[in-house]
Amino acid sequence: MNILVLNGPNLNLLGERDSSLYGTMTLAQLVREVTSHARRRGAKVRARQSNSEGALIDILHSHRKWADAIVFNPGAYTHYSYALRDAVAAICVPTIEVHLSNVTKREPFRRVSVIEPVCAGRRFGKGLQSYFEAIDVLISLNRRESSRPNLSPTGVYATGLRMAKYKK
Ligand code: DQA
Repeated sequence: MNILVLNGPNLNLLGERDSSLYGTMTLAQLVREVTSHARRRGAKVRARQSNSEGALIDILHSHRKWADAIVFNPGAYTHYSYALRDAVAAICVPTIEVHLSNVTKREPFRRVSVIEPVCAGRRFGKGLQSYFEAIDVLISLNRRESSRPNLSPTGVYATGLRMAKYKK
């Protein structure tokens, strides 16, 4: 199973950025931890980061055939990027939205996620653990899907109902 771990704007500054919210781990350390967590469970990770909305969309598009699942921290784009939301919906790959901090307990604008409705779930507020949990959910969804041979992935993912079906 292939998992794209995609991090959005300002997450390249992890380790320097407000550690009371985001911890002290750098992005490189986080990626190493997430990659070995996934590898121990038999999944392969590709990690990408960009500060730019267009580049994130291009990364989603170019991984749509490779990735069986996506762990996506869209950073502040979470709260207003309809273009990223459309990209996630368009590529039909089960995606979990993640955040290091607890976005529900911060400024009101962070309580809104325009990405969440097109995702299979959300994990937030647990730092690195949010990423681990997202990986675990995606692996178990993938196992569940592949143990049901009558539903081809294309058939399942192609329906407008697919994300609701995967809600966790
Ligand atoms: C974040 C939360 C966002 O609101 C913020 O803009 C970020 C990081 C998180 O991981 O907690 O850049 O996505």
